[in-house]
Amino acid sequence: MLHRTGAKCARSRAHYILRVSELPIIDPTVRRTYAGTGLADDVTGAPLPLLRLWWAQAVDDERIAEPDAMVVATVDEAGNPDARTVLLKQLTPAGFTFFTNTDSTKGRQLRRTPYAALVLLWHPMHRQVRVRGPVTQVAREEAAAYFATRPRDSQVASAASQQSRPVASRAQLERAVAAEQARWPDTGSPTDVPLPPSWGGYRLQPDEVELWAGRPSRLHDRILFRRAGTGDLDDASAWTVTRLQP
Ligand SMILES: Cc1cc2nc3c(=O)[nH]c(=O)nc-3n(C[C@H](O)[C@H](O)[C@H](O)COP(=O)(O)O)c2cc1C
Repeated sequence: MLHRTGAKCARSRAHYILRVSELPIIDPTVRRTYAGTGLADDVTGAPLPLLRLWWAQAVDDERIAEPDAMVVATVDEAGNPDARTVLLKQLTPAGFTFFTNTDSTKGRQLRRTPYAALVLLWHPMHRQVRVRGPVTQVAREEAAAYFATRPRDSQVASAASQQSRPVASRAQLERAVAAEQARWPDTGSPTDVPLPPSWGGYRLQPDEVELWAGRPSRLHDRILFRRAGTGDLDDASAWTVTRLQP
């Protein structure tokens, strides 16, 4: 539900868009009621069962276009934060895995500071998952196996793009793509385009996982799992569970 402070009636989306298109660009009085399903007091054990449940519910929710889109925050050489969206490709007891160019800005930052934070936001469900922990690069064979599942055009684009580096023009980028297309003839095999040298996966092994459920009147539920042992995301003995104030 969308309404503004003091207004009795719910506002339509059209009204909201109209408001946003007026000046000032952001109307600070627009408010939403967060009334998602909350988190009970009896949450115990490891984070993975609840993460698995929330993931399944997000995937089933047709209002969520990309449940796998997550923000990855890293740290640059000056110690300053950086963040961007990537796609979550694996959630296993070992951690959260995404794939990218290992010489990109984030790749270089992770080489220097192998620690990251992730945020998955499932807006229509009023749910957020926050994760922090050390990051390791996945084995090259694992990255190659995933790369082979990608459509050929995405493989070619990854081979052609020196991600995060400047390029003079769109035309120059398209010439680089054409060169990679010609270099790897299309026989219909998923491995026609080999794994590029600067492409791989990163796995974040959480030492903190927070599940946040939006509730009315800003009295949200927050459950923090904090690592207390060396076990994985499915090992109850490795985690403490704490409820946090909203
Ligand atoms: C919805 C969405 C999904 C994305 N998924 C990925 C991804 O899985 N891997 C990736 O390298 N970049 C992905 N990107 C692009 C990144 O946000 C970013 O532009 C790129 O990785 C370069 O980031 P960097 O310069 O900080 O390294 C995605 C962007 C969006 C908006």
